[in-house]
Amino acid sequence: MKPTPADWQGIQSAAEALRAGKLVVMPTETVYGLAADALNEEAVRAIFRAKGRPENNPLIVHACGLEDVRTVVGHWPHELSTLAERFWPGPLTVVLPKASLVPELVTGGLPTIAVRVPDHPVALALIRAAGRPLAAPSANLFSRVSPTRASDVDPEIARHAALILEGGACQVGLESTVLDLSEGEPRVLRPGAVSRAMLQAALGRPLVGGPPPVGHRSPGLYPRHYSPRTPLALVDTLVEQQPGLTFGVAAGPHQLTMPSDPVRYGAELYAALAHYDRLGLERLYVESPPDEPAWEAVLDRLKRAVG
Ligand code: TXA
Ligand code: MG
Repeated sequence: MKPTPADWQGIQSAAEALRAGKLVVMPTETVYGLAADALNEEAVRAIFRAKGRPENNPLIVHACGLEDVRTVVGHWPHELSTLAERFWPGPLTVVLPKASLVPELVTGGLPTIAVRVPDHPVALALIRAAGRPLAAPSANLFSRVSPTRASDVDPEIARHAALILEGGACQVGLESTVLDLSEGEPRVLRPGAVSRAMLQAALGRPLVGGPPPVGHRSPGLYPRHYSPRTPLALVDTLVEQQPGLTFGVAAGPHQLTMPSDPVRYGAELYAALAHYDRLGLERLYVESPPDEPAWEAVLDRLKRAVG
């Protein structure tokens, strides 16, 4: 499916499709999302079907402003105001008690809801035009790599959508940071561009460290998740002729030099993996980035891609 230009007409058509209960692929600053009216249970069910995603995996709800957020959360802790002021619109998702108005299917039966205000003009215009919050997981098949360009959206996903809105290359390139604020102590459930250090500085108190307790349901935490079709191995240094991602000078025909800056690396990673998936190589090698806090989100995705 050819992406639709995100001009006024394109946004109106997409908003109309959403109000009619259809799905739309929308750009955000992190990755492209497969969006539906968050308050329409049948529309939301279509997301799970399109992705092949189990229905107990909760979705992120996207709002265009704080008034919108207020309608879907059941409780507004003062720390949410601090975080919103500092990070919204932006790549931070906050988990809070949910409002009863939101169908249970959106939250996978959980009493909490994940919500964020995306920092992309097309996403914000679309949510505003649709006049309702949008539930949107990344627009990939369950457990595959998230698309960061309209052209990387899998046809298997696209055929379930009324249209794909063209929004250019995603600036951030990795899924949002997920912060759980529903249990008193703030806890990062998924690392992203908004780092632990940034959150800690904004909140003025430490975050709970380590993995969430056993039984905590958060699908992004599946050990194997962001997997390219091509099996991937982490190595210290690529040897010549090994296809993959290097920090050095690309040697073989299928070697790609990646940025040494973690933010820029994150912005390019998924597009690179999508490129290799199209080549259909037997195996892909990726040089391990340094094990440092600035690389946490990138390392998290690479480790899950290895499984
Ligand atoms: O950047 C993003 O967040 C992208 C764009 C489209 O906004 N969306 C995205 O959605 O990555 P998805 O469905 O691929 O990932 C949703 C993540 C899950 O990994 C899960 O950890 C978390 O959000 N989540 C959603 N609802 C939750 C809840 N009630 N409690 C805990 N975690 C939740
Ligand atoms: Mg996803």
